[in-house]
Amino acid sequence: MTSKGQTTMNFGATENRLKKRTIKGGLLITFEGGEGVGKSTQAERLFRKLDSYGIDVVLAHEPGSSDLGNHVRRWIKRTNSPSPLSETLLFEAARAQLMFELIQPALGNGKIVILDRFIDSTIAYQGYARGGDIKTIQRLNTIATTGLIPKLTILLDADPELSLARVSNKPNLFDAANKNQGIRVDNESERRFEQAPLKFHKKVREGYLKMSKNDRRWCIIRADQAGHRIADAILKRVRRLLIKNGIAPELLQS
Ligand code: TMP
Repeated sequence: MTSKGQTTMNFGATENRLKKRTIKGGLLITFEGGEGVGKSTQAERLFRKLDSYGIDVVLAHEPGSSDLGNHVRRWIKRTNSPSPLSETLLFEAARAQLMFELIQPALGNGKIVILDRFIDSTIAYQGYARGGDIKTIQRLNTIATTGLIPKLTILLDADPELSLARVSNKPNLFDAANKNQGIRVDNESERRFEQAPLKFHKKVREGYLKMSKNDRRWCIIRADQAGHRIADAILKRVRRLLIKNGIAPELLQS
C-alpha cells in the first residue's frame, strides 16, 4: 500500500489461497463527498471487509491510481489556476486512463471495484461549485467512462464547516509516518481544493444533495457520527447489494 492515489490496493491477494468470489460483469461502488468527510478511510475499511469475506475486490482513487492520474493529481491540486474547462478535461483524462487500465479489466473479471471519487465529483466540483455547464460535464463523463454508472454511490454528507475543520486539524497530515502506514497524503502545496473558500464547499455539498435526491443509486450517510457507525451503515447497504447480485449471505458474516 502506498501514499495517496499511487496504487490500486489488493490486500490479501497472495495469502488468500481460496478462489475469490466474483460477480458476473463485476460491480462498481463509489464513494463521494466533500473534503474531510472520511471517504478514503471508509472506502479502505469496506475494501478490507470485502477482502476478508473472500470477495475479489480492488480499491482505487480519483484522480490517481494510474501514472497519468497521479500526474494530474499533483498538478491540479497545486495552486495553479486552470480554466474550469481545462480542469474538467484533466479530471476526465485521468478518469479515461483509469477506466482503461483498471476499471474495465477488473469489472470484466467480475471484481468489485471500489472507487474513492468518480463521475459525480466532477459534477459537484466543476459543475455545481465552479459553475461549469452540467450537461457538458455529463457528456464528458459519458465519453470518459463509456457510460458506466456505479451500482451504488455512498455519499458521506457533512456540513463543510465541520468537515473542513477535520482536514485542517490533522496535525500530522504531512508526516512521513503517515506515508509508511499507507495513509494517503498530499504535500502542503497540493491542497488547492481544501483551501477554497467555504462558499465553494457549500456549493459542492448542495450539488451532491441535489444529485442524490430521488435517485436510488445513492446512499446518503451522515458523516458527523462515529466512524464505526458509518462503516456499519455502509456495510449493511453493500451486503444487500452483494446478496442481490448472487453472493451467498453466509459468506458475508461478521
Ligand atoms: P482528494 O482525493 O483528497 O479528495 O482530492 C481530490 C480533489 O480533487 C478533491 O478536492 C476533489 C477534487 N476533484 C474534482 O474537483 N473533480 C473531480 O472530478 C475529482 C475526481 C476530484
